[in-house]
Amino acid sequence: MKIDILTLFPEMFDAVLKSSILGKAIEKGILRVGVINIRDFSKDRHRRVDDYPYGGGAGMVMMPQPLYDAIKSVKDKSPDARVVLTSPRGKPFDQEKARLLSKEPHLVIVCGHYEGIDQRIIDTMVDEEISIGDYILTGGELPAMVIVDAVARLLPGAIGSPRSLEQESFTNGLLEYPQYTRPADFLGMKVPEVLLSGNHKRIEEWRRRKAVEITRRIRPDLLAGKGLEPEEPGH
Ligand SMILES: C[S@@+](CC[C@H](N)C(=O)[O-])C[C@H]1O[C@@H](n2cnc3c(N)ncnc32)[C@H](O)[C@@H]1O
Repeated sequence: MKIDILTLFPEMFDAVLKSSILGKAIEKGILRVGVINIRDFSKDRHRRVDDYPYGGGAGMVMMPQPLYDAIKSVKDKSPDARVVLTSPRGKPFDQEKARLLSKEPHLVIVCGHYEGIDQRIIDTMVDEEISIGDYILTGGELPAMVIVDAVARLLPGAIGSPRSLEQESFTNGLLEYPQYTRPADFLGMKVPEVLLSGNHKRIEEWRRRKAVEITRRIRPDLLAGKGLEPEEPGH
């Protein structure tokens, strides 16, 4: 898979793209990431990329020209590339969206700044707007990193044990059950007996019960439509 990130702050991606699973996926050639500086496309004498909003109001808006040319430079070579704009106005990013994006051969992620980008670019060059949550960040770089990370770990070969993808939170619509590792007794706190039993059926049932319990307590909204009541009967 290829991901191109369009940003005013390319240096922000250096550490993230070199480290951990993302770094390894890139090293193995499972993922190719291009970081493109939008400012390089500015035709302004001073390489400006922002201007005052028509109609007045606070802050600046990213001008259409540098963004248009930056996106076009990718689309000219790869017309089917899917263009995603990071935006608090977008659809909320979730595991299902990560899964869908991981099937795209070529993704372009546009990082906004200031008050956002000129609407004409959104109308003509952007396929979808994605938000990573109901809060406002200073720029689209952190959201782009979140999207790249969530997508990359779903690519075949990116994760050492693909089974962990099947069992983790959200994949089956539940939050994950509690995890323990050695020692079995840490400062008097014991690992639940069932996990030491070697009885896989009992372990499976315990994990499922815990996952439902945790989801019911923390995210009852996830249970709706799963045939599981958001509240314990009698509560
Ligand atoms: C300060 S924000 C602009 C906020 C915009 N004026 C609004 O009210 O919707 C600057 C840029 O950061 C990015 N951004 C901020 N919060 C985000 C979020 N929750 N999800 C995705 N992108 C976000 C977007 O690219 C946005 O264009």
